[in-house]
Amino acid sequence: MLNGSGTFDAIAARRTFGDELLERFPFDAFVSKTITLAPRQGNPPPRLWETPAGLINSIGLPNKGLEGFLASDLPELAELPVPLVVSVMGFSRDELAELVERVGQREEIALIELNVSCPNVETGLVMGADPAETARAVERTRPLTEKPLIVKLTPNAAEPQAVAAAAASAGADAVSLINTLKGMALHPRTRSPWLGGGSGGVSGPAVRAVALEQVYTVARAVEIPVIGMGGIQTGRHAADFIAAGAAAVAVGTESFRDPAAGARVADELGVILCSERGFPLRPRHRPARMDGPDRKTPATGDKTVK
Ligand SMILES: Cc1cc2nc3c(=O)[nH]c(=O)nc-3n(C[C@H](O)[C@H](O)[C@H](O)COP(=O)(O)O)c2cc1C
Repeated sequence: MLNGSGTFDAIAARRTFGDELLERFPFDAFVSKTITLAPRQGNPPPRLWETPAGLINSIGLPNKGLEGFLASDLPELAELPVPLVVSVMGFSRDELAELVERVGQREEIALIELNVSCPNVETGLVMGADPAETARAVERTRPLTEKPLIVKLTPNAAEPQAVAAAAASAGADAVSLINTLKGMALHPRTRSPWLGGGSGGVSGPAVRAVALEQVYTVARAVEIPVIGMGGIQTGRHAADFIAAGAAAVAVGTESFRDPAAGARVADELGVILCSERGFPLRPRHRPARMDGPDRKTPATGDKTVK
């Protein structure tokens, strides 16, 4: 069980829940929020809109940039008790290459995820929406590191399976999907776009059926492992993604509602798979207690969205 990039801030969570988080970490591997070469402020507020079945976010990749990440975030993330995946996004292939090369030199990092799919940043959409562009990005970065490369696909592509196949042929070790779907909300009174970034990315239960179909289709188009995500809230949802062809699954938006969701969904999935396949049940450790009255969201360190 992984987290979806950008949906669980492990550094804020550790500040909030203390070292108990390390003893009972809710994920089996941790994916960082996407970093870029230069620091970014992100989009102007408001950055979130709650829909009847999920969120629209227009966060816009705020981050400290590569140097800031390596100097201040990496030492803290390296203390997590699970393998670290660092998500990177470049505004050109040169930028992406520099990110992969520098991140690849750090032994604290186990895998690299190429975010070619963020709908909030113009060039991210272009790269991940086109099979040839994606292949060129992977071909350029593949020789620069021996670490496994995961390509995170966008659902906003005409044929995600063609993009996945191009990534695999170019040397990707795995693909993950889905990132957020393009969406928009209007201000209830002014009828102008609510989000500071104009449009945003839809996530949560609203996208689960779309994600399931794309995972199913992509898993039949490539031989490399597929990491499935999009609206997973329960072990039953996770079991569906595995039945569709995912080798692993990730929890994203659900962690805003329940910071221990990763461990809960993994536990529920374990029960389902053991009963379906007749394996003896070996319960995981219980997650850190993250449901107190003053529950905060580790995704932002702020009070919960609701
Ligand atoms: C607030 C927020 C921030 C996100 N930030 C990133 C990011 O930095 N990089 C990335 O690849 N995906 C990002 N995502 C997408 C998630 O990782 C995930 O792919 C998507 O939300 C679908 O899964 P879910 O429905 O379980 O949330 C973000 C999603 C949300 C809701």
